[in-house]
This record gives sequence, C-alpha cells and structure tokens, in this order.
Amino acid sequence: MVTTQPQNSQILDNYKLMSDRVVLITGASRGIGAATAKLLARHGAAVGVNYYGSEEAAGQVVEAIASEGGQALAVKADVRDPQQVDAMVQQVAEAFGPIDTVVINANAGFPIAPFVDYRWEDFEAKLVGELKGAFFPCKAVVPSMIEQKRGCIIAVSSSVSRSPSEGFSAHSTAKSGLNAFINSLALELGPHGIRANVVAPGLVLTDATAQVPQEDKDASAQMVPLKRNGLPEDIAGAILLLASEEARFITGAYLPVSGGIQML
Ligand SMILES: NC(=O)c1ccc[n+]([C@@H]2O[C@H](COP(=O)([O-])OP(=O)(O)OC[C@H]3O[C@@H](n4cnc5c(N)ncnc54)[C@H](OP(=O)(O)O)[C@@H]3O)[C@@H](O)[C@H]2O)c1
Repeated sequence: MVTTQPQNSQILDNYKLMSDRVVLITGASRGIGAATAKLLARHGAAVGVNYYGSEEAAGQVVEAIASEGGQALAVKADVRDPQQVDAMVQQVAEAFGPIDTVVINANAGFPIAPFVDYRWEDFEAKLVGELKGAFFPCKAVVPSMIEQKRGCIIAVSSSVSRSPSEGFSAHSTAKSGLNAFINSLALELGPHGIRANVVAPGLVLTDATAQVPQEDKDASAQMVPLKRNGLPEDIAGAILLLASEEARFITGAYLPVSGGIQML
C-alpha cells in the first residue's frame, strides 16, 4: 500500500523550532544551562556551551548533543570578564556563524543570610557578578544581531526578583536588576528586530539547590499548584518557546516558570 503519511522522524524534523540558529548559553556545563543546550540542539540549533570551571561536564554536554546528531562546542569563559567573553563569542561565531540567540544563565553564587548579617562585600559581589554576566555577553553579541536585523536574548532570572524570600536579599536585588536590564534592551533593541525576555524559575533541582534540606524541598513542592519541584528541563522548555520564531511578537516579557507558585 502506498502511503503519503510522513514517518515519525519526518514529523519531528518538521517540528524543529531552532533550525539554522546559532545559540550561546552561559553556564551550560550543568543544571538549567546544560538542559537548555541539549533541548535547543535537539531542535536544530548549533550551541556554544559556555563553562567556567567544569570542563569535563561541558564536554559531556557536547558529547550528548553530538550523539543525537546535533552541533555544539564547549567554550571556556568567566562571564564577568569582557575579554574572555569576546574571545568566546568569536570562537562560537567561527565554528557556527554569527550568534543570533544568547541565553544569560550562568549562576552568580551568593550566601543565604538575613540582611542584618549580610556583609556589603558579599552583596556587591552578587550584584556585580549577576550584572556583568548579563552585560558583557549581551555587549559582545548585540552588534552582530543588529547587522543580522534579528536576535533573541533570554535571561534566567528568578521568582524572588518579584517575590522576595527571607535570606535572599542579594539574589532578589540582583535578579530584579537583571529584569530591568533586559527590559531596557527589549525597548532599545526592538527596532533592530531583537527580542529580549526573562524566564523566572522557582525552586529547581540543580547543584545550586543541592544543599536545600529535603523537607524544605517537599514543603516547597506542596505549595506549588502543580505539586512538585522544578526540573532543569522545565526551564529549558520555556526558554525554547521564547527563543523560537513562534514567539516572534513577544519581547519585554517576564515568564514565571514555577509550577504556578508565582502568578502575575
Ligand atoms: N536552581 C534554582 O532553584 C534556580 C531558581 C531560580 C533561578 N535560577 C537561576 O538559574 C540559573 C542557572 O542556575 P542552576 O541552578 O542551573 O545553577 P548550577 O546548576 O549551579 O550551574 C551553574 C552554572 O553556572 C556556571 N557559572 C558559574 N559562574 C560562572 C562564571 N563566572 N562564568 C561562566 N559560567 C559560570 C557554572 O559553570 P562551571 O560549573 O563550568 O563553573 C554552571 O554551568 C542561574 O542564573 C540561577 O540564578 C536557579
């Protein structure tokens, strides 16, 4: 019997949302960044997998992508250092062509402590680290996005940027600064065809939350309408949606990805 039905693989090919796209993801050796690299590559993107200390883990992300027939390159850079960031962007562009999508994700660590115990040095390091990690990669990729007349910037913020949590004053302040920065880019760069959006996860099970006691994770899951903790793949899915052409008229958005714990 002759059939005109496409095979499953053909259907999947037709539904690749990131074909011919070149993506840089900061902090992609582990956690949310690693899951995002794998998902975007599965959807056809060539991916720059940025790492800082975890060379082996970044290599494993690249291997996993290659084993599925995707394209990726591990690139080392401290996102707080403009020279290292410029060199990384050049490496990715030489391998795959100009970057059209950047995911600002690298985790700027911080102590969890009450404000009365917070030292200015720790507060400042978080603020500066978070904003340098957004400013320098954007600064490095935006000129070629302007030339291409298209581009997509997605920043991984946090639900605490709008709903503070005890002990998280530095993180809340840094992430709300990140939101404002991304909104500014959405406004200024929109006329060049460049979109800029924020995803805001709640608690996600990664190395960054490995020290959170299990009972706190369970309590958090109970407060979430969808009744579980977030997984890196949940955040990756939201990033894919915003990065895809299907989101072409969405810019300046703040998308909570928290199973409903944060509603706007
Ligand atoms: N997990 C959560 O509950 C949660 C909730 C809300 C928001 N977020 C946000 O989600 C993002 C990712 O967090 P995660 O939980 O996936 O973190 P993670 O599992 O701890 O991974 C952190 C990643 O950031 C990279 N990184 C750290 N400092 C860097 C630097 N200076 N330059 C380049 N890369 C650097 C690490 O690279 P190396 O290992 O190679 O050094 C690693 O790939 C962060 O922006 C975080 O604030 C997380």
